[in-house]
Amino acid sequence: MASLAERAVVWQDDKLILLDQRKLPHQIQFIECTSVQQVIAAIRHMVVRGAPAIGVTAAYGVVLAARTCFTRAPDGWKACIQAHLQALRHARPTAVNLSWAISRMREVITTTNENGDPEAVLLSAARAIHRTEVRANKALGEHGAELISNNSIVLTHCNAGALATAGHGTALGVIRSAYRQNKITGVYANETRPWFQGSRLTAWELLQDNVPVTLICDSAAASLMRRQKLAWVIVGADRIASNGDVANKIGTYSLAVMAHQHNVNFMVAAATSSIDMEIENGDEIEIEERPHNEITHYQQHSFAPEDARVWNPVFDVTPAPLVTALVTEKGVIGKPTRSRIKALMRS
Ligand code: MRU
Repeated sequence: MASLAERAVVWQDDKLILLDQRKLPHQIQFIECTSVQQVIAAIRHMVVRGAPAIGVTAAYGVVLAARTCFTRAPDGWKACIQAHLQALRHARPTAVNLSWAISRMREVITTTNENGDPEAVLLSAARAIHRTEVRANKALGEHGAELISNNSIVLTHCNAGALATAGHGTALGVIRSAYRQNKITGVYANETRPWFQGSRLTAWELLQDNVPVTLICDSAAASLMRRQKLAWVIVGADRIASNGDVANKIGTYSLAVMAHQHNVNFMVAAATSSIDMEIENGDEIEIEERPHNEITHYQQHSFAPEDARVWNPVFDVTPAPLVTALVTEKGVIGKPTRSRIKALMRS
C-alpha cells in the first residue's frame, strides 16, 4: 500500500488528484483537477511542488488539455492544445522537469493521429513518465546510499522526498535507503524558509517512515557543522546545467559553501530528467521570484512592517566545484564536470 506521501500525485477515475502540500502536516486534503487550468493553478500556488512532481503533474495536465480540446474541436485538437502546453510550461520557471515532461508529451502529440480521441494514448504516456520517475528515484536512492559510511549524520534542505517527486524521493530516497542499511545515525533537516518545506514536509515524511529527524532553522547549519561531524549534506535539484552547476531551493548555495568550509561532503541527488544539457552553466537558469507576502507573512499573520522592501528568490545556484557527488539513476559522478556529465547522459 502506497504511503500518503507516495499518493501526492495520482490519476484516478479520469481525473488528477493532488495532495494539497500547503496544508501539511496538520491537514490531509486532496484537490481534484479536471481541467488544465486547475493543474496550472495547482503548480503555481504550490499545491504540488518539487521539480519531478510538477513535471509528472504537468504531463497529466496535458491529458486534461487534450480532453477539453478534443471535446471542443475533434478535428482541430492539435492546434487547440498548443496554448495549453505553453501555459503549463510557464507555470513555474526554474525546474527543468516541467519543460522536459511537456517536450515528451509534445513528441507523443506529434505522432498521434489527428482524427480520433487522443486521451488514452496521452494518458499512457503520462503514466510512463510517472513510472520512469519513480523507478529512477529508487535506483538513485540505492546508488547514493553506497556512498554513505556507517555511523553517518546527514543534513538535508527543503523537501526532496516522495512528495516532491510523485513517488519515492531523491535526497530522501538516498537517506531512506541508507537508514534502512543502518548507516545513518542522525538526520538534520533545515526548516527551509520561507515555505517551510523542511519542517512541514521533510520532517513529516521522515517521521511517517519512522526515520528520526531533528529540525534546525536554516541559520543554525554552520554552527551545527562546527559542533557536530556531519558526513554529508544531501539535497535534490531543480535544474542541473551541463557543466554541473545546480539550481535548488534558496539556501542550498550557502549550505554548499558552509560544507566546503567544514570539510563536509555535499551530495546532489537527482534523476537525469533534472539535467538540462541545453544550457552551458547556472547563469542561464531563470530563478523564480515569488510574492513578497511569502516573506512578510506566514499564512494570514504578518511579521514585518507593511512598507518593508522584500526580495524573494526561491532558488539559488550552487557552482559545480562545490559538489562532491552527483547521484543519478544512471550512476554517480564524483566532482561533476561538463565532460563527465556528457558521458553520463550518453550512457
Ligand atoms: O519551491 P519548491 O518546493 O518546488 O522547491 C523544491 C526544491 O527546491 C527541491 O529541493 C527540488 O525540487 C528537488 S525535489 C526532488
